[in-house]
Amino acid sequence: MDTTYDPALAGEGADDGQPLLYPRIDCRDVSVFYSGKQAVFDVSLPVFDRSVTALIGPSGCGKSTFLRCLNRMNDTIDGAKVTGEIFMDGENINSSHIDPVLLRSRVGMVFQKPNPFPKSIYDNIAYGPRIHGLVDDRQELDAIVEKSLRRAGLWEEVKDRLGQPGTSLSGGQQQRLCIARAIAVRPEVILMDEPCSSLDPIATARIEELIDELRKRYCIVIVTHSMQQAARVSQRTAFFHLGHLVEMGDTDQIFTSPRERRTEDYITGRFG
Ligand SMILES: Nc1ncnc2c1ncn2[C@@H]1O[C@H](COP(=O)(O)OP(=O)(O)O)[C@@H](O)[C@H]1O
Ligand SMILES: [Mg+2]
Repeated sequence: MDTTYDPALAGEGADDGQPLLYPRIDCRDVSVFYSGKQAVFDVSLPVFDRSVTALIGPSGCGKSTFLRCLNRMNDTIDGAKVTGEIFMDGENINSSHIDPVLLRSRVGMVFQKPNPFPKSIYDNIAYGPRIHGLVDDRQELDAIVEKSLRRAGLWEEVKDRLGQPGTSLSGGQQQRLCIARAIAVRPEVILMDEPCSSLDPIATARIEELIDELRKRYCIVIVTHSMQQAARVSQRTAFFHLGHLVEMGDTDQIFTSPRERRTEDYITGRFG
């Protein structure tokens, strides 16, 4: 296995479908406290590039809290404190000289409920590249909008109505719009927190197919309460319980031969 890190291969890089090459993010002893009360305990977890890592575990076990560490979204929550180190490209993202706004363009996020801006479909995508100064002219912006929508599998459905509000789309389309918006600023990592939980089964299947396609280029971390979904879309699975990372490994291994009793009990439905 080639473990050399080549930034040229991230995000915009080659799409050769090679999974699991190198840790894109390396978390060491990450803990999170809300007003002094600990919610995540000493989690150490490598997240591999060009693959999907699923975070699973019962409600309240700290999945979303941990996910938010990866782009410093916990900074925006009053009383939240994160300790430990999270390395990306050899740099600790918790260092004071890291700009969280810039970080969040490199580590994009898609939420449970699709949250398009109250703007046109076009402007939902164009907003990020504009404020981050990624484009010089309208032509370039048009190209990014089209490419992002294509990658999110939405272009054919919206190309003739780019001026309409993002909110005029169906729930599943809105979620793909939000994924396109995240992609538009050329992220390296995409975080998804239960991205299908407000969608019907058909829209869910669409998003799952899309995630499988996107992993050829991106590092994806997805929180899901559905073990079936974790089994379908991820290559690596991390099982959380009561704020602790109990076990992580290849998804096949976690679902067929978990090492820990607590993992087995959870995946066999003995608690949830
Ligand atoms: N903003 C917050 N303020 C205080 N406590 C929180 C906040 N968000 C989450 N928690 C607490 O942290 C723990 C983990 O929550 P969360 O990360 O949302 O779990 P999960 O995503 O696995 O359901 C829970 O006990 C929850 O009540
Ligand atoms: Mg959650």
